[in-house]
Amino acid sequence: MKKIRIILSFVMIIGVITIMDSCGSKRDPGRTYMPDMAYSRAYEAYAPNNLAKEDVNYVPYPVEGTIRRGDLFPYPLPNDTNGYRMSAQIKDPLPPLDSNQMKEAARLFNINCAICHGEGMNAQGPLATGGKVPAVANLTLTQYVKMPVGTMFHSVTYGKGNMGSYASQLTRKQRWMVIQYVKQHQLAGASGSAAATDSTKAGASGSSDSTAAK
Ligand code: HEC
Repeated sequence: MKKIRIILSFVMIIGVITIMDSCGSKRDPGRTYMPDMAYSRAYEAYAPNNLAKEDVNYVPYPVEGTIRRGDLFPYPLPNDTNGYRMSAQIKDPLPPLDSNQMKEAARLFNINCAICHGEGMNAQGPLATGGKVPAVANLTLTQYVKMPVGTMFHSVTYGKGNMGSYASQLTRKQRWMVIQYVKQHQLAGASGSAAATDSTKAGASGSSDSTAAK
């Protein structure tokens, strides 16, 4: 009998504590069991934060010397005049694009570059002809036809003059793809009617730029 009483009073005490605990205001969520699970810390990926100091296991950047799987090697040259000069030595790491990849490269060019350079690459894009961006390079001119791919990659990566950097819009691979497209288009322009190998649209603008090309 004594045992049962002790057990009963113990159960009552627990019950009263539970009831009192849950009788707070309705807005109060009460006691939280394991708050770390209920309220996770929200990390803003690109915002500066102190996490690296608080938590030694948190590394906000890729480990130095590592490359994301499937990514190309990092571009080694700095954004200065010496880097620009040396960029002529940089070779295209991609194999020549097949026709589907070339179509994708053309699509990327028309989205990202044609607004200034024009689909025909002769500086007839709406921002150039409308005067919004002055001094857009006419990529069909001899100086650009002769320009090494590495230099083009350097300028598209860091920006040049009135052209901004495309490093965050296009991956390294996409930038090289676009440059292969530029080179193919320049070659096609140089050999005249070969420009018609592109889509009908590019063919139409190709013929207009072969008149403009020197
Ligand atoms: C906002 C307009 C604009 C856009 C968009 C643009 N460019 Fe340019 N681009 C320019 C201008 C202006 C120059 C001339 C820069 C200079 O020499 O001052 C230029 C120059 C270049 C050159 C010559 C670089 C050199 O070293 O002289 C290449 C190659 C080029 N652009 C490729 C591209 C490619 C590829 C894209 C798309 C990824 C692109 N551009 C998008 C405006 C633009």
